[in-house]
Amino acid sequence: MDTKDYIDFFEELDDEDRLNARFGIDKRRPYQRMTRKLINEERKFVREQDDSSASFKFTYKAARFEEWWLLESLGDFYEHQWISDVLLRLKGGKEASVYLCRSGSAVDAPLVAAKVYRPRSLRNLKNDGQYRTGRADLDENGNVIVDDGALHAMKKRTAYGEELRHQSWIAYEFQTLEMLHAAGADVPRPHAMEKNAILMDYVGEVGRAAPTLNTVNLEPDEARPLFERVIRNVDLLLSNERIHGDLSAYNILYWEGDIRLIDFPQVVQPKTNPAGWNIFLRDVIRLCQYFNSQGIRSNARKLAADMWTSHGYRITREVHPRDLDADRKEDRNLWEEQKGEK
Ligand SMILES: Nc1ncnc2c1ncn2[C@@H]1O[C@H](COP(=O)(O)OP(=O)(O)OP(=O)(O)O)[C@@H](O)[C@H]1O
Ligand SMILES: [Mg+2]
Repeated sequence: MDTKDYIDFFEELDDEDRLNARFGIDKRRPYQRMTRKLINEERKFVREQDDSSASFKFTYKAARFEEWWLLESLGDFYEHQWISDVLLRLKGGKEASVYLCRSGSAVDAPLVAAKVYRPRSLRNLKNDGQYRTGRADLDENGNVIVDDGALHAMKKRTAYGEELRHQSWIAYEFQTLEMLHAAGADVPRPHAMEKNAILMDYVGEVGRAAPTLNTVNLEPDEARPLFERVIRNVDLLLSNERIHGDLSAYNILYWEGDIRLIDFPQVVQPKTNPAGWNIFLRDVIRLCQYFNSQGIRSNARKLAADMWTSHGYRITREVHPRDLDADRKEDRNLWEEQKGEK
């Protein structure tokens, strides 16, 4: 197994544009250095692996590197009986893959979904700076990091610091799910978090995972109630001082008339993030855009402003999407389109 195999495994999960950007000639060498480090870690792990019958074996036929990564990431879930088997990969996303697992005895549902983040070095980092602003970093137990050494490492972006940031990103996803689930929001019930993965309720049934809302054509009579329900969730997030930050029909699962909001690592706190209003507005515009395609007319800017101000937040100067998230051309178009509706 050489560097190329690792790249192939992840290339399979990636789309061409991102690959070109990420594995362009200039970026290839540091990437390969990181990959070599992973190969060494994998070898060490394989040497240490106990071959006894107690070790974790699963049904899903993974490529070798992927198998190692799953053993690393899900082994503790298995030991603590949160899961008993990995059945299949549901989806490979930009920064994580989601697997369907058979539950262990610690979970009172037959199936669960495990979101397994890519190794930090192979993760296609979202432009995470804008989301991290005004947000304290969390450790692997979900506690705010206060240790000076750790804070310094993150600031200086040392390898250790990057590891902490990666961990914090995942901890935010889990903690947010916990908080929102307790608050009654439509999110999958979270079960457990490990260093590199989170476990939550699986939405769907065997052989049929819930589609994301963007692929669903709603019945005329269900579009309006569903729109109102999504907006209620957005408002409930605000009541809990949270903005999703990457909300759109792509991050909502639809199952038999029901919805679940997913994908929370970039969650933003409206009080402390100076771009809060802009990020919130973008979420609402994207949602309205999908529902518009389903025949629901709305004024996204007004809707967003009403919710925002009803929670006592101030509308700040609008930032051009260029300064919010340089990579996303579609955001710029959304902004331009919506300007007329002020
Ligand atoms: N609880 C779940 N039940 C069923 N399917 C799920 C669940 N969570 C995630 N998925 C599937 O996995 C996909 C990726 O999940 P998620 O959006 O959290 O990860 P991501 O890495 O951010 O992906 P992307 O880059 O595609 O947004 C979802 O679009 C959905 O198809
Ligand atoms: Mg997603």
